[in-house]
Amino acid sequence: MVERTKVDMEKIVSLCRRRGFIFPSSEIYGGLSSCWDYGPLGVELKRNIKQAWWQAVVQERDDMVGLDASILMHPQTWEASGHLKGFSDPMVECKNCHLRWRADDLKGNNCPTCGGELTQPRQFNLMFKTFMGPVEAEANVVYLRPETAQGIFVNFQNVLNTTRKRLPFGIAQIGKAFRNEITTGNFIFRSREFEQMEIEFFVKPGTDQKWFNYWLEERLNWYVKLGIKKGNLKLRQHTKEELAHYARACCDIDYSFPMGWAELEGVANRGDFDLSQHASSSGKNFDYFDDETKEHYIPYIIEPSAGVDRSALAFLCDAYDEELDKDEIRVLLHLHPTLAPIKVAILPLSRREPLVKLAKEIYADLRQCWMVSYDDAQSVGRRYRRQDEIGTPFCVTVDFQSLEDEQVTIRDRDSMNQIRVPIGELKTTLQAKLKGEELFVLPSGGRIWKE
Ligand code: GAP
Repeated sequence: MVERTKVDMEKIVSLCRRRGFIFPSSEIYGGLSSCWDYGPLGVELKRNIKQAWWQAVVQERDDMVGLDASILMHPQTWEASGHLKGFSDPMVECKNCHLRWRADDLKGNNCPTCGGELTQPRQFNLMFKTFMGPVEAEANVVYLRPETAQGIFVNFQNVLNTTRKRLPFGIAQIGKAFRNEITTGNFIFRSREFEQMEIEFFVKPGTDQKWFNYWLEERLNWYVKLGIKKGNLKLRQHTKEELAHYARACCDIDYSFPMGWAELEGVANRGDFDLSQHASSSGKNFDYFDDETKEHYIPYIIEPSAGVDRSALAFLCDAYDEELDKDEIRVLLHLHPTLAPIKVAILPLSRREPLVKLAKEIYADLRQCWMVSYDDAQSVGRRYRRQDEIGTPFCVTVDFQSLEDEQVTIRDRDSMNQIRVPIGELKTTLQAKLKGEELFVLPSGGRIWKE
């Protein structure tokens, strides 16, 4: 077995490109800096990450609801949120650790944290500007949202009134965000267009620390449950100087990416900053009436904010593996079955009838449940390798014996173990296996099959 040291980014980029996970945006025109297109497998991976998140934070909870706010918002939003002012300073960024600094706050010419080289100061705002309507006038300027969070804050009362939720409760949202980042790079780690999965959890002031700790643990466990090795995750508390203008406290969940430890998700205590700002800017009432204590107050907000793209990169890096198998390197992705783009591949041993008819019937049946692929090109060994490389947990081989005994072979990606199961039990066996149940006890009529 090849030693599993940290995977290098080039291997991940090359696999993503080669197998259709991720392509450079507008590649035929030379690409567009730090914008990426998700190919047929990448889009499935991303959908699965978002679905797993939504299931954990909305579907399975009583105290959460969802939202899908528009990307373009009233420009006053960004005045109230502090983004117009806060992001308009001359800024520099450390080329090494990617921390950003206000140029006029710095004493020396190097990064105060790691001593790295700094970019030239530039007067800029991180938000992308565009115009609403046909007239390109200053009065018509709107911004592409740099975070999805503000769409939640401005809808706080709408959600409260329509769902009759009481504190503590949260609103979750998945959507695109845009930032004109000074320093981009490291593949999809830092791009100018990306997707966020954000929770704004509204709590009574004074209970905020408890909920902050709660969400930090919840979110850390979510990554571990989906296969990320615990040793590749760590928490990093923000120093006072690092805190965003809205945050009272913040802790990052860092992942050990190929280029080093870096933020995967941030959990912030935003206090009452946002709701108070929107209350005074809009003149609307953001008070919450607590039925139990009969008090009026502005709720505090705990915000776990994750990146879909960064999660995808972390899941890919963590799953990547190389094994020596019969003088060959077997490249595989140990993706959790929930995240694997393709759950099952159907591999007929020959392209001849009536084998093909049987294989196609199985394929048609299984694809009603999952993303399934059908591959009849080249040797079975080659086909296994292709599926291993994209993380397909199971291959189902249909051979000539299948026509007689009505059984097929299931091959497990990680162990390469194979079992023979009756076709009638195939779906339930795969269902159980995809949930992580033990293969060899199912189904009752099945037996272990050896090559
Ligand atoms: N609403 C809070 C907020 O936006 P953030 O730390 O700036 O906080 C949250 O962003 C998450 O969004 C990050 O942890 C990261 O996963 C993702 N993210 C932020 N900027 C990104 C970028 N330029 N490219 C890819 N993902 C990014």
